Amino acid sequence: MEFHDVYRRYKPELAQVEAILTDAVHSRNRALTESSLHLLEAGGKRIRPLFALVCGQYGGLNREQVYIFAAAMEMVHMASLVHDDVIDDAEIRRGNPTVRSAYGDAAAMYVGDYLFAKAIEMLGRVPFDQVHTKMSTAIVKMVEGEIDQIEDFFNVNQALRRYFRRIQRKTALLHELSCGLGALIGGASPVAVRMMARFGRFTGMAFQVIDDILDFVGDERVVGKRVGGDLRQGNLTLPILYTLRQPGMGARMRSLIHEHMSEAAVEQVLSLIRSTDAIPFARGIANRYMEKAVAALSPLGVSRVHEELMVIGAFMNQRSF
Ligand code: IPE
Ligand code: IPE
Ligand code: MG
Ligand code: MG
Repeated sequence: MEFHDVYRRYKPELAQVEAILTDAVHSRNRALTESSLHLLEAGGKRIRPLFALVCGQYGGLNREQVYIFAAAMEMVHMASLVHDDVIDDAEIRRGNPTVRSAYGDAAAMYVGDYLFAKAIEMLGRVPFDQVHTKMSTAIVKMVEGEIDQIEDFFNVNQALRRYFRRIQRKTALLHELSCGLGALIGGASPVAVRMMARFGRFTGMAFQVIDDILDFVGDERVVGKRVGGDLRQGNLTLPILYTLRQPGMGARMRSLIHEHMSEAAVEQVLSLIRSTDAIPFARGIANRYMEKAVAALSPLGVSRVHEELMVIGAFMNQRSF
């Protein structure tokens, strides 16, 4: 089974999720509707809804509620992207101009708020207390992760632990809940819910490590966002933190990386990173997280859900966009 087989299998259900999303972003205000649709229609991988759909079929219950939940997870994700692009001054997202570059930073802040609020409104239609408490906490933690990231901009002395803690909050948590709460709503047993949540958390960690790698080696046309953006912004990710610790490299990197670094310095750091073993090292870490994700599912035994999750996980770990 390949990723496109899984994708094809869920295509009709993903279309239902899409319809819920399109319906939900319509507002009386034309600018809000237009800008939300602009991001929605630009594509995106829809990994979080896919996880919710796959994990949410395990107990075989409440399919309609799983669709609503899946849509809400994409909406929380989209909200965080709109805000993230304001913080990062990003011009391109999903291969299109970002909401901030099309409508301005101020409007983008409201579009992000609007999407968050719409997601919460949508979650209100899912009658599970745990979904509400976990999602509220998750949004708080995502914000904490993003704030930690700002505090560590250009901090060449930060501990690696801080990086992992940050990506756990800003990214892995949403993957964890897409899987775990998807399973819960679908009626899976508490043991299965826990396993899927763990699977989501570890794939989420691998996912952000890969995203950070793509910021060095990705093809802008394929990734749909600008390469080198993390460094320019001061977000020091795993390949950089690793290289800073390499004998003979650390001092050179430290002399190049600082606030207001020149474009030439950015290019130098990018090529240093590409020429060392930093990228293979980071890939190794992503692989280790994927192994943990796979191990988390092993008690599930061979099943269709198990097989599909493995295929999606492998695809995410090898992706180039
Ligand atoms: C981008 O997420 C932000 C991260 C958490 C790395 P995705 O790579 O899932 O973005 P889309 O939804 O496909 O655009
Ligand atoms: C992920 O971080 C952002 C969120 C979780 C909102 P990035 O800043 O790496 O995301 P991209 O690379 O801009 O998509
Ligand atoms: Mg960003
Ligand atoms: Mg990124």
